[in-house]
Amino acid sequence: MKNYKIAVLSGDGIGPEVMAEAKKVLAAVTEKFKIGFEFNEQLVGGAAIDATHSTNSGQVGEPLPEATMQACEASDAILFGSVGGEKWNSLPPEKRPEVGALLPLRKKFDLFANIRPAGVSKVLAHSSPLKPEIIGDGFSFTVIRELTGDVYFGEKKRGTDFSSDLMIYRKAEVERIARVAFELAKNSKKKVTNVDKSNVLATSQFWRSVVEEIHQKEFPEIELEHLYIDNATMQILVRPQSFGVILTSNLFGDILSDEAAQISGSIGLQASASINSDKFGLYEPMGGSAPDIAGKGIANPIAQILSAAMLLEISLNEKEAAASIKGSVEKVLADGLRTADIFTGADGEQKVSTSEMGDAIVKNLS
Ligand code: IPM
Ligand code: MN
Repeated sequence: MKNYKIAVLSGDGIGPEVMAEAKKVLAAVTEKFKIGFEFNEQLVGGAAIDATHSTNSGQVGEPLPEATMQACEASDAILFGSVGGEKWNSLPPEKRPEVGALLPLRKKFDLFANIRPAGVSKVLAHSSPLKPEIIGDGFSFTVIRELTGDVYFGEKKRGTDFSSDLMIYRKAEVERIARVAFELAKNSKKKVTNVDKSNVLATSQFWRSVVEEIHQKEFPEIELEHLYIDNATMQILVRPQSFGVILTSNLFGDILSDEAAQISGSIGLQASASINSDKFGLYEPMGGSAPDIAGKGIANPIAQILSAAMLLEISLNEKEAAASIKGSVEKVLADGLRTADIFTGADGEQKVSTSEMGDAIVKNLS
């Protein structure tokens, strides 16, 4: 039996309770597909800050302790929950759970490709804020966001009367993310929409020319469209069906992927992957730690469960098991099972708890 090492970083808020359901599903995958998992649970985010806080020296704790980093290094993939909460909001940005844990993990493992699928099926169309006539029979597209460059990692300066964040991209960085987008487009609508701000920014003009070069040389069969970021935010709302793969830089992708998640219905359904060129990756729900509903047993575990499915598919190349999980999620939603975030009270819907949803997904694995 194959045996994979998974670093499990549940984090804060609803993280631990939705992670418990993802682990339940992976345990069922072991039974059905004879794929073994060794879970290495580690502290991250606010939970890690609190655990490593030194009351003697008064030193603030670490959102990403060394032991956690080492466990990730020794694993085949990272399954990440969510981090953050009111309690840690007054810390300086780099010490906060979100920035202090996620950004160093992305940089350390060179997780340059962030894959964020979006979309709604007919079954859940009414949970999307878009009008039914715009959604039609549903839509689906994938945002490919560059994740280790741009203003996120460019030089930062802060003076008394000025501040700056350097927006910088190197050719190789643009080339590799463009290839990820074009490759993905081969298996879907054969269309890439590049989003930038090349009417103003030198970085974007450069980005666009590199994308065009890769397109012409390596993927001429794929359709390539260009949109400015401001226009793209509008086009997504009026013609969501027209998109296949959206390729964009780090900051624009941060903004666009939240928009895409929102129009897809509940953020509690959205999974994401951040991978490097060896397909090692970190998999996490797009939503946050939702402290307001933590501990109540009402959070939607589907985003975490689908993140585990993406982990199987991309990092472990266990496509059959991944498809089985995705199929089961579709089935329980079609059967009307709904956690509170997607419950509308319509005929045929049944309100379920976090663990009931997890159990139903286990039961429907094929
Ligand atoms: C995301 C988040 C992060 C980002 C924050 C928490 C650093 O918003 O994953 O989209 O800006 O990338
Ligand atoms: Mn974001």
